[in-house]
Amino acid sequence: MENFTFYNPTRILFGAGRIADVAREVPAGARVLITYGGGSVVKTGTLDEVKAALSGFTVLEFGGIEPNPTYETLMKAVELARKEKVDFLLAVGGGSVIDGTKFIAGAIPFDGEPWDILAKRARITSAVPFGSVLTLPATGSEMNSGAVITKRATNDKLAFFSNLLYPRFSVLDPTKTYTLPARQVSNGVVDAFVHVVEQYLTYPADAKVQDRFAEGLLLTLIEEGPKALREPENYAVRANLMWTATLALNGLIGVGVPTDWATHMLGHEITALHGLDHAQTLAIVLPAMLQVRREEKQAKLLQYAERVWGLTQGDEKARIDEAIARTRQFFESVQVKTRLSDYGIGKDAVPPLVAQLERHGMKALGEHQNLTLEGSRQVYELAV
Ligand code: NZQ
Ligand code: ZN
Repeated sequence: MENFTFYNPTRILFGAGRIADVAREVPAGARVLITYGGGSVVKTGTLDEVKAALSGFTVLEFGGIEPNPTYETLMKAVELARKEKVDFLLAVGGGSVIDGTKFIAGAIPFDGEPWDILAKRARITSAVPFGSVLTLPATGSEMNSGAVITKRATNDKLAFFSNLLYPRFSVLDPTKTYTLPARQVSNGVVDAFVHVVEQYLTYPADAKVQDRFAEGLLLTLIEEGPKALREPENYAVRANLMWTATLALNGLIGVGVPTDWATHMLGHEITALHGLDHAQTLAIVLPAMLQVRREEKQAKLLQYAERVWGLTQGDEKARIDEAIARTRQFFESVQVKTRLSDYGIGKDAVPPLVAQLERHGMKALGEHQNLTLEGSRQVYELAV
């Protein structure tokens, strides 16, 4: 295990009815800007519930943050927040709203062009504090310091991180996920699954707890994911999925171990050019990625085959084949397609995707930084 520093300052308020506790978490006298997405929280009543909880505060609203939140939209919120002297933000929604709010929080006090935070990795030296009320378990954004923002004008979908951008608190009320469309439930399961895989399925690092923790999260997703689709109002199932998705990307399982993230980087380019949902891109890329890089991942693939899928029979090649096949079948079983061609995207789409990776400097990806543009091209081709 490598040396590490683990830091996570986000307070989690977990369980039914916890929105009522938000008032205690927001600094007294704060001018709060509530941020939300395309209107699901208006329809479900969650926005009203949050506003009721904040009745003692000055509250403003900014709606319309889209899935794969855009710089163009978020800058409108930055303008509003600056004009109204907002000093606390509260994101109410899924990963896109929370990510967008992280950008707004960093951009409000930023001196210069805020897009540089993504494009030039400009450092943030201050940020407006914020909290979140999560409505979609998937990204882990509610307990991490990262965000992924899209600039529509140039088709750039880029990630950034800052220790100043952990939510101060996040409300995780599983009952708020009952209204999710099946597609978003599935997306959440796949996204969390791939977050675990990208921190686990690399090479052995003698990190027993991280490995067993990761395997526990994967097994929980395999058990509970399909149940959430069958029984949308099963509290126990929703609660387990919600906490699993948070733990999948709050930093805990990634400490002291190598991490990959190549599947995410290739996936982001598919969303940028073709508009697929984040998780849809991961379900397409991961099986092909594991196939192309099966030799360097051999030891962990065998461990994954045995401990996650119970595969102990047959030779090593057969076990790895079967583990990759089971991964694909799992995604398909929760109704997420696993090929580009399922979305009408063919081989001709590959060169522009590789060109995007090149433009974004993604030429040495993976835990060994050895996935070249040529390797990525093979992955995309296999994913058609
Ligand atoms: O916009 P509204 O109307 O709220 O509807 C949303 C949206 O259409 C809807 N929804 C959310 N909660 C709901 C609901 N509908 C009914 N009932 C509810 N309770 O779901 C749709 C998708 O929402 P979105 O926030 O886009 O989904 P998700 O949470 O999957 O977030 C995806 C974004 O997060 C980024 C992705 O790249 C993508 O931009 N990621 C962020 C990460 C991070 N910060 O650490 C890591 C991830 O790997 C990922 O890249
Ligand atoms: Zn993801």
